[in-house]
Amino acid sequence: MMPVVRPVVIVANWKMHTTLADAGELASSIARATAHPRVTRVICPPHVSLAAVSAALRGTDVAVGAQDCHSEAFGPYTGSVSAPMLAGLATWCLVGHSERRRDQTETDELISRKLLRCFEAGLRPVLCVGEQLEERDDGRAAATVRTQLEGALGAIIGRGPDAAAGLVVAYEPVWAIGTGRTARGADAASMAQAIRDVADGLGMDDAASLPVLYGGSVTSATIGEFLAEPTIDGALVGGASLKVEEMAGIVARASVTAEARQSAGVA
Ligand code: PGA
Repeated sequence: MMPVVRPVVIVANWKMHTTLADAGELASSIARATAHPRVTRVICPPHVSLAAVSAALRGTDVAVGAQDCHSEAFGPYTGSVSAPMLAGLATWCLVGHSERRRDQTETDELISRKLLRCFEAGLRPVLCVGEQLEERDDGRAAATVRTQLEGALGAIIGRGPDAAAGLVVAYEPVWAIGTGRTARGADAASMAQAIRDVADGLGMDDAASLPVLYGGSVTSATIGEFLAEPTIDGALVGGASLKVEEMAGIVARASVTAEARQSAGVA
């Protein structure tokens, strides 16, 4: 049997930070400081800066991602931005981030439709899942993530085993986001494997190749604990992704894992 080949991916989520005046410059500085060809790099600026960031990154191999899209392709939804509108500006899109589940009360069913819009528009979605602190403390972390995956992916994979091809999942325990408190590498690693098992159980084609990232207070100092785990394929980085030095350290560490996997024939 051929070894499983999974890329190492670092996604920067700028959230509601930067302005048009500084987004392009920050993106170019990050691109210059992180030029490791074996690491897949993606920057997700606010929607209004997508064009500037995409222009700034032209000629680099850093991809541009959106932070969200609407669940419909077009329609009377004032102020919203849909997946077909993002195509051309971005090639990736975050879906179901916990801040949107919390602030926009996004449900798994809505998230599922957003994923579908991404696939239809040719955007590569990063589906974010993760439990609340009470759920972890009650021993319900894995069940929560399973429910989120089933709700978001069940209907898509039901259309065909390759209907979710290109998907990336980010496991982000909600209690670790923006708090400075990270999960333990071993806990995140077993959740990453559980995520692939759920995808496999849903009938996803080649679920063993599904990239699973860790997210939640990742910095250049903490990334190593996660990338030391063979089941974790990178990180979704929030606060630290606004700092060039931090991104340089994170991607440099990711390139070590990418190289090690390549020479071991597992990536
Ligand atoms: P953080 O955010 O790195 O600031 O915790 C991660 C995320 O929300 O994607």
